[in-house]
Order: sequence, then structure tokens, then C-alpha cells
Amino acid sequence: MKTVIIYASVHHNNTKELVCAIAAENDIDVVDAAKITEKDLSGYDLIGFASGIYFGKMHQSVINFAEVNLPENKDVFLMCTYGGKPVFDSIKKIVKEKQGRIVGEFSCKGFDTFGPFKLIGGISKGHPDKNDLDNAKAFFKELEKGK
Ligand SMILES: Cc1cc2nc3c(=O)[nH]c(=O)nc-3n(C[C@H](O)[C@H](O)[C@H](O)COP(=O)(O)O)c2cc1C
Repeated sequence: MKTVIIYASVHHNNTKELVCAIAAENDIDVVDAAKITEKDLSGYDLIGFASGIYFGKMHQSVINFAEVNLPENKDVFLMCTYGGKPVFDSIKKIVKEKQGRIVGEFSCKGFDTFGPFKLIGGISKGHPDKNDLDNAKAFFKELEKGK
């Protein structure tokens, strides 16, 4: 099975930690959407989009990437790290438009020093932690089982 995760992780590399933990143990391709804007995804059986949440959305580079590159009828999973709460609406809309199937969602807290949080040393310090990374890896294993 061929898998790719497209991610953006621009605040504290929180999301990148999740993606790297999965990539270290699985034969998958990884694309940084903040650097690469186009890729042929037609040969992949499973496509993941991963990002921090910024102003209630996944990073715009991931949304743009999905809009441009996601083929129709693909199995898609979503991952995010967040300071407040996970929100997948914007990316889900695109997957739906392309007749994709959301086969899994994973989220956990990520260290957040945005705006006023900086004044108090940030929130969710230490996240993702080992437990979060283990949960992400277990989530991915379950996804693969389902394929
Ligand atoms: C500019 C900015 C806006 C953010 N907006 C939100 C938000 O709307 N909701 C939320 O839950 N977290 C928000 N956060 C917190 C991030 O989602 C969180 O720190 C995340 O783990 C960052 O992931 P990254 O290190 O992979 O970029 C925001 C952070 C930044 C820097």
C-alpha cells in the first residue's frame, strides 16, 4: 500500500513531530506543503493531510495543496495539533468536493505560544508528548489494518 502525508508545521514543529514519528516506523512518503505545492498523488492508496490549526483552519498551504493535487475518489485521513480545539471543516470540504472518503482523524494538543499565550509561557507545553506520539503511531497502524 502506498501512503503519503502532506503536512505543514510552521509554529513549533508540533505536527511535524507526529508525522516524523509515523514516518520513522512506516514506509511512507512525506511532503512539506509549505515548500512543495504540486505533486502527482494518483498512485497513492492512502493520503494524509496534517497541520497545526491556525485561525480555525489547517494551514493554508495544506488546503491549497489539497485543492490543486488531491485526485477524486481517494481514501484520506486527517491529523492536526491544536492549541484550543481541532477543526477539520476546511479540509473536509475539499475532500468532499473531490468525492474522497475520510477514513480516519487524529488530533492532539500542541505547544502554543500565539498572541497572549506567549505572555504566560505558552499553553500545552510539552505537547505532543510521548503518549501523543504513541497514540498517533497506533492510529496509523489501525488505518493500515483497515486497508
Ligand atoms: C497564528 C496562529 C494561530 C493559531 N490559531 C489557532 C486556532 O484557531 N485554534 C487552535 O486550536 N489553535 C491555534 N493555534 C495553535 C496551533 O494550532 C498549535 O500550536 C499547533 O500545535 C501548531 O502546530 P505546528 O507547530 O505544527 O505549526 C494557532 C497558532 C498560531 C501560531
